[in-house]
Amino acid sequence: MVAAGMQFLPLTRLRAQSARPGNPLRFPADWAGGSLAVARANLTIWPGYSTAVSAINGGVPGPTIRLRRGEEFAARVQNNLGEPLVLHWHGVLAPERMDGHPGDQVAAGQSYEVRFPVRQRASTCWYHAHTDQLTAEQAYAGVAGFFIIEDPAEVAFGLPSGNHDVPLVFMDKRVNASRQLVYAPSMMDLMSGYLGDVMLVNGTPAAWLSVDRGLYRLRLLNGSNARIYKVALSDGRPFHLIGTDGGLLAAPVSVTSALLAPGQRLEVLVDFSTYATGASVVLKSLSFPGGGGMMGGPQQGTEMDLLRFYVDSAATGNASVPATLQPFTPLNPAQARRTRVFTLAMSGMVHTINGQLFNMQRTDFSVPFGDVEIWEYRNTGTEPHPMHAHAALCQVLSRSSAPSLPPEDGGWKDTVLVNPGETVRVLTRFDTHSGVFVHHCHNLEHEDSGMMQNFEVLTPPTLTVRRDGTSVSLSWPEAEQGWRLESSAETSGAAWDLVAQSPTPVGGRWTLTLSETTGRRFYRLVKP
Ligand code: C2O
Ligand code: CU
Ligand code: CU
Repeated sequence: MVAAGMQFLPLTRLRAQSARPGNPLRFPADWAGGSLAVARANLTIWPGYSTAVSAINGGVPGPTIRLRRGEEFAARVQNNLGEPLVLHWHGVLAPERMDGHPGDQVAAGQSYEVRFPVRQRASTCWYHAHTDQLTAEQAYAGVAGFFIIEDPAEVAFGLPSGNHDVPLVFMDKRVNASRQLVYAPSMMDLMSGYLGDVMLVNGTPAAWLSVDRGLYRLRLLNGSNARIYKVALSDGRPFHLIGTDGGLLAAPVSVTSALLAPGQRLEVLVDFSTYATGASVVLKSLSFPGGGGMMGGPQQGTEMDLLRFYVDSAATGNASVPATLQPFTPLNPAQARRTRVFTLAMSGMVHTINGQLFNMQRTDFSVPFGDVEIWEYRNTGTEPHPMHAHAALCQVLSRSSAPSLPPEDGGWKDTVLVNPGETVRVLTRFDTHSGVFVHHCHNLEHEDSGMMQNFEVLTPPTLTVRRDGTSVSLSWPEAEQGWRLESSAETSGAAWDLVAQSPTPVGGRWTLTLSETTGRRFYRLVKP
């Protein structure tokens, strides 16, 4: 991508720009492949000051990883941070050992190899530290970047590209007089999440961007530890929501504001042709009843400026708002095989899931590979919780606080905001990788203090089926424990029934023989 600040401008306009308050928006470099080295660094974030950060390849945010669907992602993660580290590819469906489980963190000075093919649709994902109990502090210090998946299907929509395709990551900080980032959470901060009162956009304080009178695609990422944004234009003009966590919506939706919780992404189109050359407008976060935050300190839900746009010139692109976007087949709630309830509660100063805190050694539940499930989050506490599961995307099904879902709940999601007192149900299906993954609150202070679970995506063992007339023999390895056999008539939509007969071990395999007097049947193994 070409940084917008690099476009050619007449000298008089350049002089006008240098007189502008604040700082021109910075852009992370594109990753050139090879390694992702995480180390402490001193960067000029505020002109005239040197600020200590934790950088990836020398930058905060880290370099933008761009891949085309079908390509392999291969990187060497080098931990030069002086403490344990693991990186997680948020929104990218990675195999178990590549996903950045906190149990896979490496010690100071170590490195590890990541390699897996990226097969999902185009979407704006990201990556960040996911170290055991250090995620919040490391992400806050700068260990995060964009991970953008592209595909030809998306290119076909003719959305704004080049310097009209603008990634924006929002991070709120507390900053002291010598312009150092302060991370010193109090008990209250740990309980509500660490909120800042200084906004960095792509690592730029008081950021502004020079735009032309064309159409812009903004990829918004909430990379904050705990702050929720209610994104809007300062003059209340509508913009077009075109995508959420997992890529494009089926069609653009016109909105005047949208909620963006920690970990989430929103993609929007802003049409600057409705502004005159010389006009200026601010992308901001509107105030909303937030709760949380310390008395006298930064509060959740306060109004904040994010980025100022200066409309400097005539349109250069010719993109227009498409009438429709990428269609997708939603999951069908009628196919859900079970509902899992997650009760989010406050216990003392920490937040629990189903009454428990994270235990690295404990697997809290298992999910059969490929089953459609309803995950029901019941927030009984007084804090909002953006809930995020690794290893699958989901769709929001219902929200107890609203008769219909807001547009930002649309499309494929990986992080879902559950407000105080609210019950939110999502439809999900783990059908990409098996293994142990985490599921947690993306308020990073909540996560680090234990609001996280391990779950295992189970792949059933191969079932061997041998038929002889109306008799059918089934077997699977005896080492596989706890599977139950189900069968279904060979007609589409037929129900699966438990096979009542128990298997017996023969020569290292579980075996049983059934008769198919009413016709052939399908068989499968499931974990109850
Ligand atoms: Cu972005 Cu497990 O998180
Ligand atoms: Cu994730
Ligand atoms: Cu939370």
